[in-house]
Amino acid sequence: MRIGILTGGGDCPGLNAVISSVARRSWDRGHELVGFKYGWRGVIQDQSIPLTRDIVRGIMREGGTILRSSGENPSHGGDRPARVLATLQRHEIDALIVVGGEGTMRGALEMWRDHGLPVVGVPKTIDNDLPGTQMTVGFDSALAIATEALDRLATTAESHDRVMVCEVMGRTAGWLAMESGIAGGADVILLPEMDLTVEEAASIIKRRHAEGRNSSLIVVGEGYTLRSDTGLFDGLEESEQLDAYGYPRLGGVSQHVARAVEELTGYETRVTILGHVQRGGPPTARDRSLAAQFGVFAADLVHDGVFGKLVAQVGQDVVAVPLEETEGDARVVPEELFDTVRGFMG
Ligand code: F6P
Repeated sequence: MRIGILTGGGDCPGLNAVISSVARRSWDRGHELVGFKYGWRGVIQDQSIPLTRDIVRGIMREGGTILRSSGENPSHGGDRPARVLATLQRHEIDALIVVGGEGTMRGALEMWRDHGLPVVGVPKTIDNDLPGTQMTVGFDSALAIATEALDRLATTAESHDRVMVCEVMGRTAGWLAMESGIAGGADVILLPEMDLTVEEAASIIKRRHAEGRNSSLIVVGEGYTLRSDTGLFDGLEESEQLDAYGYPRLGGVSQHVARAVEELTGYETRVTILGHVQRGGPPTARDRSLAAQFGVFAADLVHDGVFGKLVAQVGQDVVAVPLEETEGDARVVPEELFDTVRGFMG
């Protein structure tokens, strides 16, 4: 077989580990691998490279993606689906492995359901918000970076009797904020899913300081909606900027949180927005291992002629679920966990 592979959407650590694992397994079974560059754009515009042993050697540990990435998608309409099919026919591709998050999978599903393209999806995103799987490649690495950042912020906060507000990514899902907040000992964890106000956050901090602490850590997920019982955020304009998928570009909510907390508590407050640092650098061992399992499983599905599936982690198992499961709302932190999160604050 000739198997195509692409990486789409925002990058994350572990993409190269997926490529490497798909390649090894496919070669072992006598197949050839072709990489399409810049996600779906490379298929639409016919930009590809043969993935040889020389190109793939040693990439397991490398961050980013040797195939590059973009948010472009055949589901954006026009003649794109036809161009995708034409490119794949030209290269005699028998199946396409699509490594991506929600936006990229939307394209995979459309090409499978509406155009019969033999696709298999592999989930990745630092947000861990793709429906259908409990874990995505990249999350563990971003979590490690965010947790280390909180560890580092804790010591400088203590030296200067400060409150530190650390903003992490994750869009509308609070997985990164919740898990780094718990692991990194944050005193306040502001998730997009929970309706905590800044006044509640400030009172948690005041209570801590009244009990003898002189510094505090707040972690806030970038998708947190600013909430105040006393109208502190009235009149703030929402960002008008949209990303390649048409979602609002997030980032910066922590500035407002910090200003409000400083005003309400009187404690000197500083802000750190971790941003794309969370997406860079080498993957953790856990992400490499997950990428390896997912990559091998995807290559096996293709070898067995099973298409229209997403490789997913369900419980402790790696399984194939219908690509349709990636449709719908983002997988967010469920209400059952809110009490647990509250239990770690203060
Ligand atoms: O979806 C991954 C993600 O890193 C989000 O956490 C973040 O909001 C967004 O992508 C940033 O996108 P961009 O790289 O386009 O700024």
